[in-house]
Amino acid sequence: MTATTAKPTGPIPAAFVGQTPELHIAGRRAADWAAAGTPVFVYDPAIVAGRVARFRTAFPDIDLHYAIKANPLPDWLAAIAPMMDGLDVASAGELACALAVKPAAAISFAGPGKRDDELLVAIVGGVTLNLESEGEADRALAIADTQGVRPRLAVRVNPDIELRGSGMRMGGRPSPFGIDAARVPALVRRLVAAGADWRGFHVYAGSQALSAEAVAETQGATVALAARLAEAAGAAPPLVNLGGGFGVPYFAGDAPLDIDAVGARLADALAARPAILADSRFAIELGRWLVAEAGVYLARVVDRKESGGETFLIVDGGLHHQLAASGNFGTVVRRNYPLAVADRVGAAAEEVVSVVGPLCTPLDRLGDRVTLPRAEIGDLVAIFLAGAYGATASPAAFLGHPPAREVVAR
Ligand SMILES: Cc1ncc(COP(=O)(O)O)c(C=O)c1O
Repeated sequence: MTATTAKPTGPIPAAFVGQTPELHIAGRRAADWAAAGTPVFVYDPAIVAGRVARFRTAFPDIDLHYAIKANPLPDWLAAIAPMMDGLDVASAGELACALAVKPAAAISFAGPGKRDDELLVAIVGGVTLNLESEGEADRALAIADTQGVRPRLAVRVNPDIELRGSGMRMGGRPSPFGIDAARVPALVRRLVAAGADWRGFHVYAGSQALSAEAVAETQGATVALAARLAEAAGAAPPLVNLGGGFGVPYFAGDAPLDIDAVGARLADALAARPAILADSRFAIELGRWLVAEAGVYLARVVDRKESGGETFLIVDGGLHHQLAASGNFGTVVRRNYPLAVADRVGAAAEEVVSVVGPLCTPLDRLGDRVTLPRAEIGDLVAIFLAGAYGATASPAAFLGHPPAREVVAR
């Protein structure tokens, strides 16, 4: 047998560094959070409050929108929505969650393929639609007409730029998202002529970017693009939603995005913005940057086994709850999220193990050859960065295991 080579894990988020001997979440022992059953996601709103405070310092004049797809749990939304200026939703289901915690005027609805019934709910409710195509614009105008309401309509632009260095690029190429920039001025003129309440532009160029230079460059280009489109349309946008894409360090070698540097660069770009944007407001919409670090997924060790000289810790959670940590949600190369044995976070690493779930697929691997203190059956494994794209971005029904519990710390 060959000795098992360890693979690195991502950096444990700052809020949990240095805790010993046990992991605490929101001031309570992980074991207490897990007592009512595992697997469980525990979310701490205080960590989001810290992120929001950092955002406000770096971007004092910019609105902060939360893209609720990152974590739309109703209790969670109730806890964190008051910290946000707006919420962005991607379906009528998300819209219902958002309307429970925010006024319609602070909600925008983006995403291709909005059905007529979704457009209707948004229009009648006074929510801003970020239009994804001319066809969608036609349907929205017709629905508004039949309802006798003035629709709040913004145009999502497929920019002729892309967010360099982002984990997921959504601009600068043929795309199902947004309307090609060259066709946007004509559409804006049409919306204004039809009497719609035109709310401005939405530009979303990518996600999970850690380079301040790349984000700042994209934001600067977005401001310039918005000005060009507004001039060509002959209409000043009330709001320019600059998108987001702020990443978090999931993997070994990742460093946090320097948002102060991004904020300084954006302030410069806005100070020099063309006159047509003089009265526009600007917004940044963020998902994972706000909430990923606020969540921890706790799973209990059910079995320990050896095979071919390797040790496997088999836990009661897996990719059916935390697909992203298994490397199967939008990552090309599988790498390890930060994880720890919750009862012994301060202890020295003793062994190389793979942490796997109960599903009958080799993809169900939450930690691949990670170095941990020895964990026994009954111990808890904590997987960090579980606050975004966890429960709702995972195939919970796969193989019929129960859903994970989700609790919001109060
Ligand atoms: C339009 C839009 N807004 C916001 C987000 C949130 O991205 P993130 O969680 O990376 O901030 C996405 C992600 O796909 C998106 O498509």
